[in-house]
Amino acid sequence: MLKNGNTQKNNNNSEDRSVSPDRWTAIVLAAGKGTRMNSPLPKVLHPVAGRPMLVRVLEQLKRQPFAEIRVVTGFGYHLVEAVIGALGVVSYRQSEQKGTGHAVSVARPEQLDGDVLILNGDHPLIESEDIASIMSRFEKSHWDLAVVTAEVTHPGSLGRIVRHLGQIKAIVEAQDASAQTLQIKEVNTGIYCVKAQVLKELLPLISNQNTKGEYYLTEIVTLALEKGLKVGTLESHSRVAFGVNTQSELAQASQILFDQKARSLMDSGVLLLNPNSVYIEETVTIEPGTAIYPNVMIRGRTRIASFCSIEPNCFIVDSEIERGVHIKAGSYLERVKIMKEAQIGPYARLRPETVIGEQAQVGNFVEMKKVKFGSQSKANHLTYLGDAEVGIGVNIGCGTITCNYAVDRKKYKTVIGDHVFVGSDTQFVAPVTIGEHAVIGSGSTITKDVPPWALAVARAHQIHREDWAKKLVKNTSESDSSDGDKLPPKEKNTEPSKETR
Ligand code: UD1
Ligand code: CA
Repeated sequence: MLKNGNTQKNNNNSEDRSVSPDRWTAIVLAAGKGTRMNSPLPKVLHPVAGRPMLVRVLEQLKRQPFAEIRVVTGFGYHLVEAVIGALGVVSYRQSEQKGTGHAVSVARPEQLDGDVLILNGDHPLIESEDIASIMSRFEKSHWDLAVVTAEVTHPGSLGRIVRHLGQIKAIVEAQDASAQTLQIKEVNTGIYCVKAQVLKELLPLISNQNTKGEYYLTEIVTLALEKGLKVGTLESHSRVAFGVNTQSELAQASQILFDQKARSLMDSGVLLLNPNSVYIEETVTIEPGTAIYPNVMIRGRTRIASFCSIEPNCFIVDSEIERGVHIKAGSYLERVKIMKEAQIGPYARLRPETVIGEQAQVGNFVEMKKVKFGSQSKANHLTYLGDAEVGIGVNIGCGTITCNYAVDRKKYKTVIGDHVFVGSDTQFVAPVTIGEHAVIGSGSTITKDVPPWALAVARAHQIHREDWAKKLVKNTSESDSSDGDKLPPKEKNTEPSKETR
């Protein structure tokens, strides 16, 4: 045990954060049910600003040179393991949740050498740089065990750090703490650095003599001190101490990440009209000079280039938007690519695998799914295009529909050549190909290929019956002799009004 209390506190100022590669193993505790979440979903899968909190923690860890990352799963393990399966971590199952100390023993620490970083899967705000700083300070300390602590304003249910003459003496859980201990603002972040040999020696000694009857990992501190080992604390940011145990804390964590993203975008030159009302996930990139209006949500791997403008109430996920694109209010874009200077919306819905060409225009109430829409083409009003290839400079009239889904439940393609003019209210019954420069008359139902430069009209012929309407007037005046007004015809006399009934 260190004699001088002052030497056992290690703050965050250390500049050199290099750590020895392959010397470290991480053990992430993620088996708990999260009872206080009141949700059937395992706590660590609840999304924080768009990603399951455990995924975010693991992504931050993976930026550091760990030999191995072990995750303790338990409650809902099949769901948790499916979600983290692709992240290159190893799962260890804790079939019964008997406490954090028991959870660590499930991750087979007896196999390990070197140093071990233990942390909770429910602290979603941790950053990779926090982890790097913690590891490098521990390496320089020559301690056997370090507890990562933070000073927080509202310590709530977090374990309190009890010190004597500056030296950490114990971690006391809030439910086991006296009123005086509860006043302490320095808390256990749930992160520990420990030499593997020490961990192996102390874990079997942890008891379950506490309010919950669980094996608390926190007891490792007093056990190490009793053995005369060197125990210190590493101070970290309050964000590291932010654990999610309730839905309200989950929402707060999301808000913190959204705020952080908004600030960093503004610092890099993105215009946010109201940073408090945009929801932009960390994984999104936006280049300087683009303006984002209020109430916009941008998710996943979306990339937006410079000089775009995204008007209110747009939802954009996993999409690529090139320079100078204008997305007008209320548009919904999912897995699409919008090329330079195109205009989208208001109220457009662009579905996966759609590519909108340069300077194209997609207007209100237009839906597209799996469409290649050529540059400078226009579909400005009330249109559905699915499984279609539209050339350049095409005009798609209002109310055009591709009938891509047939009664055989298969999808068929519509190909429209360059510079075709499609009159309003046209249906293309796919598969069908329209040659370049063709003109489609309004109201056509196109079932056959149209050659280039042709005019295609496919609608019922218009007929005229001369003076047909006059007899309506005559019938009316005969049946109403009182005031001579020309009232609507009586239905018994008139075919058209019968049809509308
Ligand atoms: C724990 C610490 C507390 C610390 C806080 C930081 C203990 C006894 N207390 O309290 O000092 O301030 O974290 O958030 O360690 N887990 C398992 N298996 C179990 C129990 C828990 O894997 O049997 C996992 C949970 O999924 C969670 C983490 O361990 O990710 C912490 O468990 P939780 O019950 O949230 O501990 P706290 O009460 O928050
Ligand atoms: Ca917790």
